[in-house]
Amino acid sequence: MKLDATLVRKLAAKVGTPFWLYDAAIIRQRIADIRHITSTPGVQARFAMKACPATKVLREMANAGIWIDAVSGNEALRALRAGHAAGNEPPVVCFTADVFRDNALDVVLKNNLLPNIGSPGMVRQLATAGYRGPISIRVNPGFGHGHVNTCDTGGPSSKHGIWPSDLAAVRDAATKAGMTVTMLHAHIGSGPQFAELHENLARLADEFAALLPQFPALTAVSLGGGIPHHYRDRENQISIEPLRELFAACRAKLCAAAGRELRLEIEPGRYYVAPAGTLITTVHDVKRTLTNAKGTGETFAMVDAGFVDLVRPAMYGSYHEIEVIGKEGSQTEPIVVAGPLCESGDVFTRSGGDELLQPRDLPRPEPGDLLALRDAGAYGYAMSSNYNSIGRAPQVWVEPDGTAELISRRETIKDMLKAETSERL
Ligand code: LLP
Repeated sequence: MKLDATLVRKLAAKVGTPFWLYDAAIIRQRIADIRHITSTPGVQARFAMKACPATKVLREMANAGIWIDAVSGNEALRALRAGHAAGNEPPVVCFTADVFRDNALDVVLKNNLLPNIGSPGMVRQLATAGYRGPISIRVNPGFGHGHVNTCDTGGPSSKHGIWPSDLAAVRDAATKAGMTVTMLHAHIGSGPQFAELHENLARLADEFAALLPQFPALTAVSLGGGIPHHYRDRENQISIEPLRELFAACRAKLCAAAGRELRLEIEPGRYYVAPAGTLITTVHDVKRTLTNAKGTGETFAMVDAGFVDLVRPAMYGSYHEIEVIGKEGSQTEPIVVAGPLCESGDVFTRSGGDELLQPRDLPRPEPGDLLALRDAGAYGYAMSSNYNSIGRAPQVWVEPDGTAELISRRETIKDMLKAETSERL
């Protein structure tokens, strides 16, 4: 779907660039897709809110009955403030982490959240903090796939979860400390190919079925997130319909192995929000280098967004489609799109982790043109930073009737200095 050029220009004039544009209709469609594949009784979807923690998005999830997977004390607090229920009956906000830091333990205890522990020593930390109650264990299943190696979360090289041979000891330590293991969980990778995901989820359900006899108090099993989004061919997304049948079959298998009813959970993040978010940026200049003995000359479109806004290309070599607003269909030439940061890696057109540049065939932009970096709704604003003291860009939410709302303003120098202090210790 093409962006509405008039609306984008109007919003850019109002809030300045760069800014984030969220299309409410797309988020709602993606929520509907997930609700459909989890519509079998006993199957529950969560939103891994790390992908896009805006209150507006969290409220959409709450209204649709989607539960939350939070990874920090503050993420959990954001979810609670947005209207998600506290408590563990049912555990609407699940706290999944490998390390408790800052206010995490405090938030878990005060709000009675279900802790999903990813490291054996966390049982001791929970006990010391005075926690007694249900816990979930995040298992490293020993296999998995991500869209890049750093997003693969299963296997001997993964820092996530507890290795299967340690599970019995963790269960015993938990029981001794007055805790009950009520959920087993695994997240086998973020954004793999759909076929890999399907195969891995089925395998995971089998492995969990084999573990069930060791966990007599289990009430739920979570297969994690990881439903991919097709960034390179955004108009041709793979149908996730087969997952409905898969989840129904996995749950049936698990219930049969347990001899009782179990809840089956999933917790995608990216799938709900990736296509709904666009980063809009202005071209400030177009310049070039010439071919010499060191390499080929390039044409650079210098834009005002950088990896402080969208880090995925710099961090993983990720691809985001780029549109020159209002110039769709014009003749194209290879262009490198680069940002304002004092880093040569501040380039959005990259081909992978090891290569710096990959020029993109784009209509030749001119200073003043707006560019749209598409499919940036997941891990976009969420991973933005204050590097170079630039300040996070504003987020704008657009309803299907074209009404727009500013949901977070541009950060100012005041915001950045707010935490600075001069306290004698
Ligand atoms: N559950 C757990 C425990 C997770 O660690 C994650 C993602 C998810 C669910 C959601 O995965 P998703 O459905 O979004 O693939 N920054 C990277 C992705 C890192 C994902 C980390 N964990 C990126 O931009 O691709």
